[in-house]
Amino acid sequence: MSNAEIGLIGLGTMGAALALNIADNGFDIAVWNRTTAKTKAFHDQAGDLAQRITPTDTLEDFVGALKSPRAIILMVPAGQPVDDQIAALRALLDDDDLIIDAGNANFHDTNRRARDAGDLPFLGIGVSGGEEGARFGPSIMGGGKRAYWDRVAHILTAIAAKHQGQPCATWMGEEGAGHFVKAVHNGIEYADMQMIAEAYGIMRDGLDMDHAAIADTFAAWDKGPLRSYLIEISGKVAAATDPATGQPMLDVIVDAAGQKGTGRWTVIEAQHLAAPIPAIEAAVVARNLSSQREARAAGEDLFGAAPHRIAHDVLSLDTLEEALIAGKILCYAQGFGMIEKASEQFDWALPLPAIAEVWREGCIIRSAMLDDMATALRENPQRNLMMAPKFADKLKATHGALRQVVAQAALHGIALPALSSGLAYFDAMRTARGTANMVQGQRDFFGAHGFARVDDDADGHHGPWGS
Ligand code: 6PG
Repeated sequence: MSNAEIGLIGLGTMGAALALNIADNGFDIAVWNRTTAKTKAFHDQAGDLAQRITPTDTLEDFVGALKSPRAIILMVPAGQPVDDQIAALRALLDDDDLIIDAGNANFHDTNRRARDAGDLPFLGIGVSGGEEGARFGPSIMGGGKRAYWDRVAHILTAIAAKHQGQPCATWMGEEGAGHFVKAVHNGIEYADMQMIAEAYGIMRDGLDMDHAAIADTFAAWDKGPLRSYLIEISGKVAAATDPATGQPMLDVIVDAAGQKGTGRWTVIEAQHLAAPIPAIEAAVVARNLSSQREARAAGEDLFGAAPHRIAHDVLSLDTLEEALIAGKILCYAQGFGMIEKASEQFDWALPLPAIAEVWREGCIIRSAMLDDMATALRENPQRNLMMAPKFADKLKATHGALRQVVAQAALHGIALPALSSGLAYFDAMRTARGTANMVQGQRDFFGAHGFARVDDDADGHHGPWGS
C-alpha cells in the first residue's frame, strides 16, 4: 500500500519522537530503521497513533509505502551515515522524491549534499527542542530550495511549536542555511548553559548556598527577565535528589561536559567569518577544559584551592541575576552578529527577525527575551543587538552588575570564562579607540605589513622603524 504522506528513517530518541509527533498531527507516516526489532518495538508502543504509522522491514517496502512524489525525513547520526542513507535511498527513489536531512548536520555537509543532489530534491533542516520538543513541537530551521520547503511546509508547520498560534518553523535560505542557523542556535545554547553554570558556581562556591537554595533562586529568576527553558531546567536539575544516595543530583554528576560538536563547528565557522563570538568560544573552551579532570586535580594540589567564599554583603543574588541578564544579551548579540555576517558572506539573505521568532518556542534557547529581540531585529537587522535601544537600556542598567560579579569571581579564584568574555566583548564594543594601533605598529615593525593612519585611512603607511 503506497499511501503514507511522509516517511521517516531512524527511530532513535529524536526520530521516534518526531514520527509520533507527525502521526499525532494527523499525517500517515511510514517508518524504517536499520534494526527491524526497533521498528517493531516502536510501532507496538505507539498506542492509538499506531494506526497512522506503517512500520516497514526493508528499505524497498518503506519506499513502496509512500505516496508519490515521496518525502522522506532522515534522522540518522550526522556524517557518513547520512551520505550512506542518501545513496541507498536514491537507488530506489524517483527523480522528484524529496529527501530531508533533519539531523544535526554540519552545514558544510548540507551544502555539499544539496549541490551533489543537483536537480534531485533535497532539504537540510535543523530541529531543536530535544526529545520533548521533537514529540510535542520543535523549532524548525529549514534550508534548501524554497520549492522543496513549500512541498512539506504544511507538515513541518503543523508539527512545530507555536508562539501565540504562529508556527516556529521557517525556511531560512538555500542549501545549508537551516543547518547553519541550527549550529549558531547550539553555539548560543552552549554559551547560555555555560553562563548559567557559572552563576551556579558563584552560588555554590562563592556564596556557599545549598542546592535547595540554588534551585529556589533559579525558580525565582524564571519568573523575571531571565525566564527561559534553560533557567527553568537548571532549577529542576539543582532541586533533584539522587535516588541511590539521597544526595543532591548535582553532587553526584561528574563535572566534565560532553559535546557532539555543534558548538565547536560554530566556533570554527566564526573564525572563518571573522565574526566575534567570544562568549560562545569561551563556552566551548570551558567544555574542553572540563574534560581535563586529572590535570585540574593536579592543579588544585599544586596551587591550592582558591579562596572562593564571597561575603553576601559584597555580592547579592540580585546582582548575580543582573549579571546574567547582561551576559545573556551579549551572547545572543554575538550569535545574531555571526548570522548577519554569514548571511552577507554566503549571500543567503538570512531572515534575522524570523530566526528570533522561530526560537521563541520549541527550541532549547527559547526565552522571554527573544520576542523583544525579534522586534529589534525587525527594526534593523544589521545593527548589533546590544545597540538596539531596548537592549542598550538593559545593558546600561546591568553591565555594572556583570562587572562586579566578574571582579569578585576573579578576586576569589572562581573561573567565569563565558561571563568574563561577555564583559570583555561589551567593553571592546563600547570603546571607540582601542589598542589595535599597537598591534598594527608591531606588524609593520617586524613585517612591513603597513597600516592606515588616523589622518589617512588608506592602508600601506609605514612607521619610521628603520631610521
Ligand atoms: C537542540 C539541542 C540538541 C542537542 C545537541 C547538543 O537544539 O535540541 O541543541 O541538538 O542537545 O546535540 O548536544 P551537545 O551538547 O552534545 O553538543
